[in-house]
Amino acid sequence: MTEHDFRLKNWEFSNGVRAKNRLIVPAMASETADKAGYATDATIARYGRLTEVGAAIVLVEYSYVHESGRSEPNQLGAAEPGHFIGLQTLADTIRSRGALAGIQLVHAGGKTLPEWSGGRIMTPGSRPVPIMPGRKVGVPQAMSSTDMELWRHWFASSTERAIKAGYDLIELHAAHGYGLNQWLSPLTNDRTDAYGGSQENRFRFLLEIVSIVREISAGKLLSVRIAGGDFLEQGSTIVEAAILAQRLEAQGVDIINVSSGLGGWRRPRERVGEGYLLPEARFIQNRINIPVIAVGGFETPQVIDRAIALGDTSFVAVGRAILEGRYQDAHLRSSGAKEG
Ligand SMILES: Cc1cc2nc3c(=O)[nH]c(=O)nc-3n(C[C@H](O)[C@H](O)[C@H](O)COP(=O)(O)O)c2cc1C
Repeated sequence: MTEHDFRLKNWEFSNGVRAKNRLIVPAMASETADKAGYATDATIARYGRLTEVGAAIVLVEYSYVHESGRSEPNQLGAAEPGHFIGLQTLADTIRSRGALAGIQLVHAGGKTLPEWSGGRIMTPGSRPVPIMPGRKVGVPQAMSSTDMELWRHWFASSTERAIKAGYDLIELHAAHGYGLNQWLSPLTNDRTDAYGGSQENRFRFLLEIVSIVREISAGKLLSVRIAGGDFLEQGSTIVEAAILAQRLEAQGVDIINVSSGLGGWRRPRERVGEGYLLPEARFIQNRINIPVIAVGGFETPQVIDRAIALGDTSFVAVGRAILEGRYQDAHLRSSGAKEG
């Protein structure tokens, strides 16, 4: 390791857990689960492969906390006792190859269809999620206070299951237009009660869920994936995202994973090059004391080193370049015990 290999430096979190370097494999849906949300041999093989690259933390793809929050037919589930064995095997696969195992929990909210969600479409209000042309979503059904209580319970019990299954890190998915993101964005949350309207009100439901999940996951790492912005007119802005990140830090969250918003994870049209969401990560990292994960088109070690060296971000997630075998970094595999 040279002094320029910032990505190889390890990181100690406040709970004493050590990440062996600054690379993360972000959640990437594999669509390899069976129709009941159980991991298959293909799911397990995939995480074996993804872990071989040598990243410090490998995140298992978005896993639904209840059938009503399922957004595709072959999505992995974390919702039922029966899902436990598969989740445990995935955590073992990742940990036995030397990475920390994380799992992303999601409720799709209104970004689903009745045929996948068991008939229910659960949204904060009456507005449909703006999605890619050509894709359809179900008709919004504004959630009652009983529905909200169910969500609190589903996130809690899925977290409990994941912790028992051996995960080092839980990530709540509050980006890419899925359920929790819909509560945050003014474009999808038109409630008139204490959970809609003002910024504080739109933050409220996520912060309540974080507080429950934080307690259950005490001693483990908690990450929240948020939108650096909606990249849509009248949508959430980077300033609002930074304030949310500060609130999450105050609630004991360990990591803020900065991605995009209602428009989905794909590159916004006006952004080019590696690290196309790095400006959002930098803006947030400069305003909080916990680590940020930056993502978006990264694929060369030097670019990653520079982002970390400049303090723009603490960690970098490399998705498609790892998935497609384009990320070559021989030093990463041998990273392990280096101080930093
Ligand atoms: C096949 C695929 C599936 C994805 N599934 C998820 C997911 O489950 N949860 C999530 O937060 N992001 C998901 N994403 C977005 C990635 O985590 C990442 O943010 C995105 O690929 C941009 O990073 P990259 O340019 O390094 O690939 C997915 C991306 C891909 C390519």
